[in-house]
Amino acid sequence: MPDTITITDDRTGKTVTVPITDGVFPSSALRELDKNLFIYDPAFLSTAACRSAITYLDGDNGVLHYRGYPIEQLAEHSTYLEVAYLLLYGDLPNESQLKTWSYEVTHHTFIHENMRKRFVDGFHYDAHPMGMFISALGALGTFYNDAKNIFDAESRHKQILRLIAKAPTLAAMCHRFSVGLPFFLPDNSLSYPANFLNMMWKIGEYEVHPTLERAMDVLFILHADHEQNCGTTAMRVVASSNADPYSAAAAAAAALYGPLHGGANEAVVRMLTEIGTLDDVPAFVDDVKEGKGRLMGFGHRVYKNYDPRARIIKQTAYDVFEVTGKNPLLDIALKLEETALEDPYFVDRKLYPNVDFYSGLIYQALGFPVDMFTVLFAIPRMSGWLAHWDELLGDKDQKISRPRQWYAGPAERDYVKLGDR
Ligand code: CMC
Repeated sequence: MPDTITITDDRTGKTVTVPITDGVFPSSALRELDKNLFIYDPAFLSTAACRSAITYLDGDNGVLHYRGYPIEQLAEHSTYLEVAYLLLYGDLPNESQLKTWSYEVTHHTFIHENMRKRFVDGFHYDAHPMGMFISALGALGTFYNDAKNIFDAESRHKQILRLIAKAPTLAAMCHRFSVGLPFFLPDNSLSYPANFLNMMWKIGEYEVHPTLERAMDVLFILHADHEQNCGTTAMRVVASSNADPYSAAAAAAAALYGPLHGGANEAVVRMLTEIGTLDDVPAFVDDVKEGKGRLMGFGHRVYKNYDPRARIIKQTAYDVFEVTGKNPLLDIALKLEETALEDPYFVDRKLYPNVDFYSGLIYQALGFPVDMFTVLFAIPRMSGWLAHWDELLGDKDQKISRPRQWYAGPAERDYVKLGDR
């Protein structure tokens, strides 16, 4: 059977045959038929918007690779900083590359004092930390005029270092502000996750527990990239106009904020809290089946199988609970998962737990307020966003993103004067 597709325009009888490569055929085939012919594809269900070498995802089989490496192996053996390098530069760093990379990231963790004094201090006392984080990313760009030199490789590297290094600092600052605690400066002698936990929790004596440090690092690895999700697509779309990476990252973070995307971890904990007891799980599942809300942390556009990240997170949760004590919501989550996975509604629709189902329980056990959960997703996703930004800028196939529309408004009509309407 040939690996081609033949499209015939029945209006004209014109036919075009093009190759199918890896399940993809080029839209240029349509333009060849008729340059005014468009595919109606809301939410990009059948559109591959780019060619990417960063993350491989097989949703039917629950497979996730970063640059070819299975996520399970990276979660077991790697660190977030190593994974960030892998995503950005295509290969795992050797010893000297990792040393330089870690040194560089570690030495960009501080932020300009005016960011805190003039910018963050201007927020209302109960501002949501994710709203603050999104704005802070945009504001950070105003401190670096060189960020506009996006076609200069050295400048791009500098912005990458800054954004990856400063994301935890900004995140901790947003939290500390929202609870009225003084800001705690980065400690460059600590690892990336330990430094973040230290900035979050240090008041007087505080030492990061190694199990919790590792759990944070694993969570960072699992959230680092997930190919063309809503946030990454926002990053690419904004970056396609040649905007600076701080503005594009702010747009990506804004997309992540929504409860159908990165905001789902927050929604899961609220949902579990609302369910309250094991006995109330079946009634809640029935309500979901009747269309009264969704089972948050379940379902995925691409995974039609167990999300491999959810499996690792579930295991990590047990490691964390050994140190922190069990999160009381865990039993409700387990019962909910068991009930849903036996129910034809979820089975038929291939709805399985996704990355957000168990991550919130760990975050809560680590002491993070629910409002911080999406910020915790955004910190490591920064490396994925930047890898896609860098890839996009070097991709000769790309232009400014500009989809077409299927116009559904009125046909031309004459203006009616105010008194005659
Ligand atoms: N609970 C109940 N029903 C669901 C759910 C859910 N969580 N997710 C999908 N469905 C049903 C949906 O009602 C539809 O049923 P029907 O065919 O009868 O109309 C069917 O499953 C297909 O759903 P869809 O909305 O067409 O699927 P989608 O690919 O557009 O949505 C999703 C994907 C993740 C937005 C959706 O599954 C959802 O809302 N999940 C809950 C929110 C969530 O956990 N989001 C985190 C996603 S993973 C992290 C990330 O990458 O951001």
